[in-house]
Amino acid sequence: MKLSIGKETIAAEKRVAASPETVRKFISLGAEVYVERGAGLAAAVTDAMYADVGAKVVAQDEAYKDADVILRVRHPAPAEIAKMKKGALLLGMLAPYQEKEALKAYAAQGVTAVSMELVPRITRAQTMDVLSSQANLAGYRAVLEAAFEFGRGFPMMMTAAGTVPAAKVFIMGAGVAGLQAIATARRLGAVVSATDVRPASKEQVQSLGATFVMVESEETKAAETAGGYAKEMSDDYKQKQAVLVAETIKKQDIVITTALIPGRKAPVLVTDDMVKSMKPGSVIVDLAVEQGGNVTLAKVGEVVEVNGVKIVGHPNMPSRIAVDASALYARNLYNYLVPLVDKESKSLKINWEDDIVKASVLTRDGAIVHPNFQG
Ligand code: NAI
Repeated sequence: MKLSIGKETIAAEKRVAASPETVRKFISLGAEVYVERGAGLAAAVTDAMYADVGAKVVAQDEAYKDADVILRVRHPAPAEIAKMKKGALLLGMLAPYQEKEALKAYAAQGVTAVSMELVPRITRAQTMDVLSSQANLAGYRAVLEAAFEFGRGFPMMMTAAGTVPAAKVFIMGAGVAGLQAIATARRLGAVVSATDVRPASKEQVQSLGATFVMVESEETKAAETAGGYAKEMSDDYKQKQAVLVAETIKKQDIVITTALIPGRKAPVLVTDDMVKSMKPGSVIVDLAVEQGGNVTLAKVGEVVEVNGVKIVGHPNMPSRIAVDASALYARNLYNYLVPLVDKESKSLKINWEDDIVKASVLTRDGAIVHPNFQG
């Protein structure tokens, strides 16, 4: 089994799909591992580090030629897809809802493409959950980005020259990223509050030492899907929520928004007027900026300043903490692949009826097979 790790081609993507640790484990599984030259450099893994654990470091053509398995972080470019053999298994965060042309190209090339974002969040698949592994680090990094832009400190400091008050941080959306943002802001010494539409998040927020702020109604009792995700709320609820948020936000120094609704545009939580009600020097980080944004004034890839309030719209937050994000992502891929490799023959033996496989395979045998993308 030839397993190859490609170098990322999307601009500013610093992560890599394998670590020396996972390369070593793949070799123990019986794979011959090829790494495209320079693939890990932006995530602090040199070619020599891969070679030391037994990988062959080669040019792209050699890496992709006849590879049975290809690991990527993001979707490959058309020229790379054209180098993959028929039946090759490609794993990555392929963003199939956005990257429709790539999806067609995998099918045309006969590649079996797996979208790691679609792995179901069932107990058995927890170690393969790329959404959690990356969102957790994004939540951490968002707080550091806010601290960097903030002209003040986070903790209360009592000094001979006087007392510096603690920063007030408000986290909107208390899922995986939001909870890590709460924990990080608390560690830095801020006074933290948070909100969500799922009542289940209240206890989690409070257990991290933050205050929970929420519009509670009959509707929120059913605001969570069976999968643990938020539903889109009614206009009436959104109005009540906006009033509460407006009241809360003007007292904050830092706001971090993380609210997402699977398969839809992110909900708008912070309007232009709310931004204008904040004190100059305050900072907002919109983690949902690439999904349409929680903050109306946020712009992808920019730090916008409005009335002295900075709104940070960095895309791809996990790539800003690329070393850890790569290490965890690499383990997610390894954990996904282990059950697909036959221990005796040391080659791929995929059970196409397995729930995890079924939910994540996009294309196979020249066709788009995932029901969400057919027709
Ligand atoms: P997500 O990334 O889809 O959304 C982030 C957060 O925004 C969620 O907490 C959501 O409730 C919140 N949100 C959505 N609309 C909102 C609004 N209008 N106002 C305020 N907040 C809003 O969700 P994520 O972080 O991926 O996880 C969601 C849930 O799934 C959590 O309960 C998490 O613990 C659970 N989960 C379960 C896993 C498992 O069982 N294997 C793995 C990962 C997460």
